[in-house]
Amino acid sequence: MSTSLVIAVDGPAGTGKSSVSRGLARSLGARYLDTGAMYRIVTLAVVRGGVDLTDTPAIELAAADVPLSVGYDPDEDKAYLDAEDVSREIRGDAVTKAVSAVSAVPAVRARLVGLQRELASGPGSVVVEGRDIGTVVLPDADLKIFLTASAEERARRRNQQNIAAGRADEYETVLADVMRRDHLDSTRAVSPLRAADDAVVVDTSGMNESEVIAHLTDLAQQRAGVSQ
Ligand code: DC
Repeated sequence: MSTSLVIAVDGPAGTGKSSVSRGLARSLGARYLDTGAMYRIVTLAVVRGGVDLTDTPAIELAAADVPLSVGYDPDEDKAYLDAEDVSREIRGDAVTKAVSAVSAVPAVRARLVGLQRELASGPGSVVVEGRDIGTVVLPDADLKIFLTASAEERARRRNQQNIAAGRADEYETVLADVMRRDHLDSTRAVSPLRAADDAVVVDTSGMNESEVIAHLTDLAQQRAGVSQ
């Protein structure tokens, strides 16, 4: 594909967003930017600092100059806190539990949004994955995708992941948690999760990963054709 495209992929957890965004970047030969990983690296620094997660000014202070870097390769999870490879640690329970509180702090978002814009502006096409990419970070993106799936489907997928990881929660418990997080994410004051007005909403319920990637690749190629 000769035309360079900036593609935003947003949506809630459990829609297959991460695998699908990586697959799309791979199929287009595009760079891939995981903005969630950036929030996770900052959160790791905050957690390591022993900060009280209800203390917003303390979070701001601990998060202010965190030296973070991420890679662009969809096949490699590259996440650094200063010179330390933290790609595994940022996926652990401690960070996953704390990341909502840290990512809700406006000063944290303002800094990371600026960094994300810089990182997205490099050469060639880029797929940027997150929650507010089409609405806040890159409102001029060439293609905005908003992935959805029913709460039941997302709870079912998460339950399967839990079982594979040796944890077996009741499906009803997982479903209640998915619905609770949907409510929190879509009603929070700063950058609530919502589809941009000009986003293409893709419901992935009943579709497998390769079907979704093929569909999004088609959409990108159509968009590239239009902008040539
Ligand atoms: O996609 P993920 O689970 O790695 O994201 C981690 C957290 O960061 C999640 O709580 C949502 C938040 N996030 C955000 O608020 N804005 C983004 N652009 C990306 C992630």
